[in-house]
Amino acid sequence: MALKIAVLASGSGSNLQSIIDAVTRGVLHAEIALVICNRSDAFALERAQKAGIPTATILHTEYKDREAFDAAMIEQLQCAGCELIVLAGFMRLLTPLFIQTFAGKIVNIHPALLPSFKGTHGIADAVEYGVKLAGCTVHFVDEIMDNGAIIAQAVVPFAPNESVDVVQKRVLEFEHRIYPQVLQWIATGRVQQNGRKVSVQDTGLPKALTNGHFLVSPQLEDGF
Ligand code: GAR
Repeated sequence: MALKIAVLASGSGSNLQSIIDAVTRGVLHAEIALVICNRSDAFALERAQKAGIPTATILHTEYKDREAFDAAMIEQLQCAGCELIVLAGFMRLLTPLFIQTFAGKIVNIHPALLPSFKGTHGIADAVEYGVKLAGCTVHFVDEIMDNGAIIAQAVVPFAPNESVDVVQKRVLEFEHRIYPQVLQWIATGRVQQNGRKVSVQDTGLPKALTNGHFLVSPQLEDGF
């Protein structure tokens, strides 16, 4: 039986779209049982509706505190029988109540190589800092922001003269590949967590690494 997932989003929902597309292509064996948005203008809502996925708009502004907002979401998620909560550009901090209710069953994607550049401006912060390699991380969610055990990361090179927008687009391309992949690994029971260490059964090192290459940015010149 397909894993029942819920996607929580606040904005454009391009990650949601990549998950919908992976389900449609038949590479992700999951049922998106519910999409929750905390903003009524989130484009993610339109994407879900177009795909025939049930949606709930739960506006955080209508609740007296974070606990009440999270309790409303928990009710909907439990009603829909969701087994995994997928945060995809969901820009609200979750309370301990929410995290404990779905302990070990919440994942998030962050547009930086954690533990660097946590928070809401991961890419802009990395560009501003002057790092040579950016990237994205899929991780389990615990009670500390952007802290949970790391499941997968992708490294994305960029040049110093490139704008945040260009880097963001490149990072998103990789988000759209690793997030559905991680969900499929979870859906097929291949992800094991032991404290901070997460392993995925039957996957090796990336081909580039096993071939003796490694990713360096800027590009090395001949002879190096
Ligand atoms: C993505 O880049 C995601 O990594 C980021 O928000 C964007 C949402 O895009 N999430 C965070 O910054 C969480 N701290 P999307 O709505 O098009 O999927």
